[in-house]
Amino acid sequence: MRKDFGNETVVTPLPVLIIATYDENGMPNAMNAAWGCQSNYHEVIFHLSSHKTTDNLQLKKAFTLSFADRKNLLIADYFGVESGYKVNKIEKAGVHTVKSKFVDAPIIEEFPLTLECKVTEISKTASGEFRVIGDVVNMSADETILDSQGKIDLSKLEPISYDSAKHCYRVLGGIVGQAFHDGLKIKNM
Ligand SMILES: Cc1cc2nc3c(=O)[nH]c(=O)nc-3n(C[C@H](O)[C@H](O)[C@H](O)COP(=O)(O)O)c2cc1C
Repeated sequence: MRKDFGNETVVTPLPVLIIATYDENGMPNAMNAAWGCQSNYHEVIFHLSSHKTTDNLQLKKAFTLSFADRKNLLIADYFGVESGYKVNKIEKAGVHTVKSKFVDAPIIEEFPLTLECKVTEISKTASGEFRVIGDVVNMSADETILDSQGKIDLSKLEPISYDSAKHCYRVLGGIVGQAFHDGLKIKNM
């Protein structure tokens, strides 16, 4: 038996993306966004309501995108429950930023994996919200999440996912198979 939910939408896993930007005074800000994903080899897309972040994105045409991890879960959620219009969230969260070498946007040092992006498109949807597309100019990672070959090791990062069915965060688990490989067992039967 299957149960119908109408257009209620649960997509899994949803990422927990931390979008960091500068405002007109060079003050860094960060927000939490789950409605986003990679849309091409070097491209990301997300859907945002009107926020301090969207003002900054329109102004600076640049942002960084970090992946919330188990260690920084509280800070990541905080970035999603307070507005940068009211408070300096970076200061209140006690995190540290440096300017990206590649784009006019801050890197939050506490988040180990970060994409540095230029806005290539920012458009308003029919509902008055924003669709933002970014070109990834650089990816930087703290050495604590690299393996012995110098590659990104997501098991060291422990990224979290937003569970929109239960409104909670889940940690992404271990390796359970090999992509472009395991299905060959059926293909070659
Ligand atoms: C788990 C989570 C996911 C969120 N995803 C989005 C999203 O995809 N788009 C959006 O516009 N707001 C999203 N928000 C809300 C913003 O992060 C929130 O409104 C924030 O205060 C905006 O910050 P700013 O005004 O400093 O830019 C999310 C919040 C949480 C906690």
